[in-house]
Amino acid sequence: MTLSTSAPPVPAVVRPAPVVELRDVTKSYAGGVHALRGVSLTVEAGELLAIVGPSGSGKSTMLHVIGTLDAPTAGTVRVAGYDVGRLSDAQLSALRSRHIGFVFQHFQLAAGRDAVDNVADGLLYAGVARKERRDRARAALERVRLGHRLDHRPAELSGGEKQRVAIARALAGEPDLLLADEPTGALDTASGEVVMELLHELNAAGTTVCVITHDNEIADSLPRRVRFRDGEIVSDFPAQQASPR
Ligand SMILES: Nc1ncnc2c1ncn2[C@@H]1O[C@H](COP(=O)(O)OP(=O)(O)O)[C@@H](O)[C@H]1O
Ligand SMILES: [Mg+2]
Repeated sequence: MTLSTSAPPVPAVVRPAPVVELRDVTKSYAGGVHALRGVSLTVEAGELLAIVGPSGSGKSTMLHVIGTLDAPTAGTVRVAGYDVGRLSDAQLSALRSRHIGFVFQHFQLAAGRDAVDNVADGLLYAGVARKERRDRARAALERVRLGHRLDHRPAELSGGEKQRVAIARALAGEPDLLLADEPTGALDTASGEVVMELLHELNAAGTTVCVITHDNEIADSLPRRVRFRDGEIVSDFPAQQASPR
Protein backbone atom coordinates (compact mmCIF):
# COMPACT_ATOMS: atom_id res chain seq x y z
CA MET A 1 0.00 0.00 0.00
CA THR A 2 1.38 3.41 -0.89
CA LEU A 3 0.82 6.29 1.42
CA SER A 4 0.08 9.60 -0.18
CA THR A 5 2.09 12.47 1.24
CA SER A 6 -0.66 14.96 0.49
CA ALA A 7 -3.13 15.69 3.22
CA PRO A 8 -6.25 13.57 3.11
CA PRO A 9 -9.36 15.43 2.03
CA VAL A 10 -11.15 16.96 4.95
CA PRO A 11 -14.52 15.25 5.18
CA ALA A 12 -17.38 17.68 4.84
CA VAL A 13 -19.38 18.03 8.04
CA VAL A 14 -22.80 16.89 6.95
CA ARG A 15 -25.56 18.02 9.25
CA PRO A 16 -28.47 15.62 9.21
CA ALA A 17 -31.71 17.22 8.08
CA PRO A 18 -33.77 18.53 11.00
CA VAL A 19 -36.43 16.06 12.03
CA VAL A 20 -39.06 18.80 11.81
CA GLU A 21 -38.95 22.05 9.89
CA LEU A 22 -42.03 24.27 9.71
CA ARG A 23 -41.92 27.54 7.78
CA ASP A 24 -44.69 30.13 8.10
CA VAL A 25 -47.33 27.51 8.73
CA THR A 26 -50.93 28.58 9.07
CA LYS A 27 -53.99 26.44 9.69
CA SER A 28 -57.49 27.87 9.45
CA TYR A 29 -60.77 26.10 9.93
CA ALA A 30 -64.10 26.91 8.36
CA GLY A 31 -65.85 29.65 10.32
CA GLY A 32 -62.76 31.82 10.59
CA VAL A 33 -60.83 29.94 13.29
CA HIS A 34 -57.11 30.54 12.83
CA ALA A 35 -55.55 27.71 14.85
CA LEU A 36 -51.99 28.39 13.62
CA ARG A 37 -50.97 31.88 12.54
CA GLY A 38 -47.55 31.71 10.90
CA VAL A 39 -45.53 29.19 12.87
CA SER A 40 -41.86 28.50 12.11
CA LEU A 41 -40.11 25.82 14.10
CA THR A 42 -37.03 23.65 13.64
CA VAL A 43 -36.48 20.52 15.70
CA GLU A 44 -33.11 18.83 15.37
CA ALA A 45 -32.53 15.10 15.74
CA GLY A 46 -32.20 14.09 19.38
CA GLU A 47 -34.15 16.95 20.92
CA LEU A 48 -36.66 16.58 23.74
CA LEU A 49 -39.04 19.51 23.73
CA ALA A 50 -42.35 20.69 25.07
CA ILE A 51 -44.94 22.53 23.05
CA VAL A 52 -46.76 24.25 25.86
CA GLY A 53 -49.71 26.60 25.99
CA PRO A 54 -53.23 27.03 27.31
CA SER A 55 -56.19 25.10 26.00
CA GLY A 56 -57.22 26.26 22.54
CA SER A 57 -53.81 27.76 21.70
CA GLY A 58 -53.27 25.41 18.74
CA LYS A 59 -51.08 22.68 20.25
CA SER A 60 -53.06 19.70 18.97
CA THR A 61 -53.39 21.31 15.57
CA MET A 62 -49.61 21.68 15.60
CA LEU A 63 -49.20 17.99 16.43
CA HIS A 64 -51.53 16.99 13.61
CA VAL A 65 -49.62 19.16 11.15
CA ILE A 66 -46.17 17.95 12.28
CA GLY A 67 -47.46 14.38 12.25
CA THR A 68 -48.76 14.81 8.67
CA LEU A 69 -52.27 13.89 9.81
CA ASP A 70 -53.48 17.33 8.71
CA ALA A 71 -52.24 19.57 5.91
CA PRO A 72 -51.51 23.21 6.70
CA THR A 73 -53.55 25.94 5.02
CA ALA A 74 -50.28 27.63 4.00
CA GLY A 75 -46.57 27.27 4.64
CA THR A 76 -44.21 24.33 4.36
CA VAL A 77 -43.77 21.30 6.56
CA ARG A 78 -40.71 19.10 6.35
CA VAL A 79 -40.41 15.90 8.34
CA ALA A 80 -37.24 13.80 8.24
CA GLY A 81 -36.15 15.97 5.30
CA TYR A 82 -39.29 15.34 3.21
CA ASP A 83 -41.41 18.22 2.01
CA VAL A 84 -44.71 16.80 3.17
CA GLY A 85 -46.80 18.93 0.78
CA ARG A 86 -45.24 17.11 -2.16
CA LEU A 87 -46.11 13.61 -0.99
CA SER A 88 -49.15 11.52 -1.98
CA ASP A 89 -51.40 10.01 0.69
CA ALA A 90 -49.66 6.66 0.26
CA GLN A 91 -46.26 8.30 0.65
CA LEU A 92 -47.48 10.13 3.75
CA SER A 93 -48.63 6.84 5.30
CA ALA A 94 -45.23 5.36 4.56
CA LEU A 95 -43.49 8.40 6.05
CA ARG A 96 -45.58 8.12 9.21
CA SER A 97 -45.07 4.40 9.62
CA ARG A 98 -41.29 4.73 9.13
CA HIS A 99 -40.55 7.92 10.98
CA ILE A 100 -43.29 9.01 13.38
CA GLY A 101 -44.81 7.52 16.53
CA PHE A 102 -47.94 8.96 18.18
CA VAL A 103 -49.08 8.92 21.78
CA PHE A 104 -52.44 10.49 22.70
CA GLN A 105 -54.01 11.59 25.97
CA HIS A 106 -56.67 8.86 25.91
CA PHE A 107 -54.37 6.05 24.74
CA GLN A 108 -56.45 5.04 21.66
CA LEU A 109 -56.11 1.32 22.34
CA ALA A 110 -58.43 -1.31 20.83
CA ALA A 111 -60.62 -2.55 23.69
CA GLY A 112 -60.96 -6.15 22.50
CA ARG A 113 -57.24 -6.77 21.90
CA ASP A 114 -54.54 -7.61 24.39
CA ALA A 115 -51.37 -5.59 24.87
CA VAL A 116 -49.31 -7.58 22.35
CA ASP A 117 -52.00 -7.26 19.66
CA ASN A 118 -52.47 -3.56 20.32
CA VAL A 119 -48.74 -2.97 19.81
CA ALA A 120 -48.36 -5.45 16.94
CA ASP A 121 -51.30 -3.91 15.04
CA GLY A 122 -49.37 -0.64 14.96
CA LEU A 123 -46.89 -2.34 12.61
CA LEU A 124 -49.52 -3.51 10.09
CA TYR A 125 -48.83 -0.65 7.72
CA ALA A 126 -45.07 -0.95 8.03
CA GLY A 127 -45.31 -4.19 6.05
CA VAL A 128 -43.93 -6.34 8.88
CA ALA A 129 -44.87 -10.05 8.86
CA ARG A 130 -47.17 -11.31 11.64
CA LYS A 131 -44.57 -13.28 13.61
CA GLU A 132 -42.12 -10.39 13.57
CA ARG A 133 -44.89 -7.94 14.50
CA ARG A 134 -45.61 -9.98 17.61
CA ASP A 135 -41.91 -10.42 18.47
CA ARG A 136 -41.30 -6.69 18.15
CA ALA A 137 -44.45 -5.96 20.15
CA ARG A 138 -43.25 -8.15 23.01
CA ALA A 139 -39.83 -6.49 22.95
CA ALA A 140 -41.41 -3.02 22.97
CA LEU A 141 -43.65 -3.99 25.91
CA GLU A 142 -40.62 -5.28 27.81
CA ARG A 143 -38.94 -1.96 27.13
CA VAL A 144 -41.77 -0.06 28.84
CA ARG A 145 -41.61 -2.65 31.63
CA LEU A 146 -44.91 -4.34 30.81
CA GLY A 147 -43.48 -7.80 30.17
CA HIS A 148 -45.86 -9.10 32.83
CA ARG A 149 -48.97 -7.68 31.11
CA LEU A 150 -48.60 -9.06 27.58
CA ASP A 151 -52.00 -10.74 27.36
CA HIS A 152 -53.96 -8.16 29.33
CA ARG A 153 -56.67 -6.17 27.58
CA PRO A 154 -57.01 -2.42 28.15
CA ALA A 155 -59.84 -2.92 30.69
CA GLU A 156 -57.44 -5.02 32.78
CA LEU A 157 -54.75 -2.31 32.84
CA SER A 158 -54.38 0.87 34.90
CA GLY A 159 -54.30 4.22 33.13
CA GLY A 160 -50.52 4.38 33.45
CA GLU A 161 -50.17 0.87 32.03
CA LYS A 162 -52.47 1.75 29.11
CA GLN A 163 -50.30 4.73 28.28
CA ARG A 164 -47.19 2.53 28.45
CA VAL A 165 -48.85 0.15 25.94
CA ALA A 166 -49.49 3.17 23.72
CA ILE A 167 -45.83 4.20 24.06
CA ALA A 168 -44.75 0.64 23.22
CA ARG A 169 -46.94 0.79 20.11
CA ALA A 170 -45.33 4.08 19.11
CA LEU A 171 -41.78 2.85 19.63
CA ALA A 172 -42.25 -0.60 18.03
CA GLY A 173 -42.01 1.14 14.67
CA GLU A 174 -38.63 2.60 15.70
CA PRO A 175 -39.68 6.16 14.91
CA ASP A 176 -37.21 9.04 14.60
CA LEU A 177 -39.85 11.29 16.06
CA LEU A 178 -42.28 10.60 18.88
CA LEU A 179 -45.22 13.01 19.16
CA ALA A 180 -47.09 12.87 22.45
CA ASP A 181 -50.26 14.96 22.90
CA GLU A 182 -50.97 15.51 26.63
CA PRO A 183 -49.56 12.04 27.41
CA THR A 184 -50.06 12.50 31.16
CA GLY A 185 -53.35 14.41 30.88
CA ALA A 186 -55.52 11.45 31.90
CA LEU A 187 -53.14 10.03 34.52
CA ASP A 188 -52.58 10.44 38.25
CA THR A 189 -49.34 12.15 39.24
CA ALA A 190 -47.35 8.98 39.94
CA SER A 191 -48.33 7.30 36.63
CA GLY A 192 -47.64 10.56 34.83
CA GLU A 193 -44.15 10.62 36.27
CA VAL A 194 -43.48 7.09 35.05
CA VAL A 195 -44.64 8.07 31.56
CA MET A 196 -42.38 11.14 31.56
CA GLU A 197 -39.44 9.04 32.76
CA LEU A 198 -40.04 6.65 29.87
CA LEU A 199 -40.11 9.51 27.38
CA HIS A 200 -36.79 10.77 28.78
CA GLU A 201 -35.37 7.27 28.48
CA LEU A 202 -36.45 6.92 24.84
CA ASN A 203 -34.95 10.32 24.10
CA ALA A 204 -31.67 9.30 25.73
CA ALA A 205 -31.68 6.26 23.43
CA GLY A 206 -31.89 8.52 20.37
CA THR A 207 -35.56 9.26 19.63
CA THR A 208 -36.56 12.89 19.12
CA VAL A 209 -39.48 13.51 21.46
CA CYS A 210 -42.03 16.30 21.29
CA VAL A 211 -44.41 16.52 24.25
CA ILE A 212 -47.51 18.66 23.90
CA THR A 213 -48.85 19.88 27.20
CA HIS A 214 -50.83 22.62 28.94
CA ASP A 215 -48.94 21.75 32.16
CA ASN A 216 -46.15 24.20 32.93
CA GLU A 217 -44.57 21.85 35.44
CA ILE A 218 -44.16 19.14 32.81
CA ALA A 219 -42.89 21.67 30.28
CA ASP A 220 -40.35 23.02 32.76
CA SER A 221 -38.97 19.51 33.25
CA LEU A 222 -37.92 19.36 29.59
CA PRO A 223 -34.78 20.87 28.04
CA ARG A 224 -36.64 23.03 25.48
CA ARG A 225 -39.97 24.79 25.82
CA VAL A 226 -41.82 26.20 22.82
CA ARG A 227 -44.60 28.35 24.22
CA PHE A 228 -47.83 28.85 22.25
CA ARG A 229 -50.54 31.43 22.57
CA ASP A 230 -53.40 32.05 20.13
CA GLY A 231 -51.78 30.01 17.38
CA GLU A 232 -48.38 31.66 17.58
CA ILE A 233 -45.05 30.84 19.19
CA VAL A 234 -44.48 33.46 21.88
CA SER A 235 -41.21 32.05 23.25
CA ASP A 236 -38.76 29.27 22.58
CA PHE A 237 -36.34 28.62 25.44
CA PRO A 238 -33.49 27.93 25.32
CA ALA A 239 -33.64 29.69 21.95
CA GLN A 240 -33.00 27.44 18.99
CA GLN A 241 -29.38 27.76 17.85
CA ALA A 242 -29.17 29.40 14.45
CA SER A 243 -28.43 26.75 11.87
CA PRO A 244 -25.42 27.56 9.66
CA ARG A 245 -27.35 26.66 6.52
N1 LIG B 1 -61.41 20.39 13.34
C1 LIG B 1 -61.59 21.63 13.78
N2 LIG B 1 -62.54 22.43 13.25
C2 LIG B 1 -62.71 23.71 13.67
N3 LIG B 1 -61.97 24.28 14.64
C3 LIG B 1 -61.02 23.54 15.21
C4 LIG B 1 -60.77 22.18 14.82
N4 LIG B 1 -59.73 21.69 15.57
C5 LIG B 1 -59.36 22.69 16.38
N5 LIG B 1 -60.12 23.81 16.17
C6 LIG B 1 -59.98 25.11 16.86
O1 LIG B 1 -58.63 25.53 16.70
C7 LIG B 1 -58.15 26.15 17.90
C8 LIG B 1 -56.93 25.39 18.40
O2 LIG B 1 -57.33 24.10 18.83
P1 LIG B 1 -56.32 22.97 19.32
O3 LIG B 1 -55.22 22.85 18.33
O4 LIG B 1 -57.11 21.75 19.62
O5 LIG B 1 -55.76 23.63 20.67
P2 LIG B 1 -55.09 22.97 21.95
O6 LIG B 1 -54.64 21.59 21.60
O7 LIG B 1 -53.96 23.89 22.29
O8 LIG B 1 -56.13 22.98 23.03
C9 LIG B 1 -59.32 26.15 18.87
O9 LIG B 1 -59.97 27.39 18.75
C10 LIG B 1 -60.19 25.03 18.36
O10 LIG B 1 -61.53 25.24 18.72
MG1 LIG C 1 -55.07 19.76 22.53
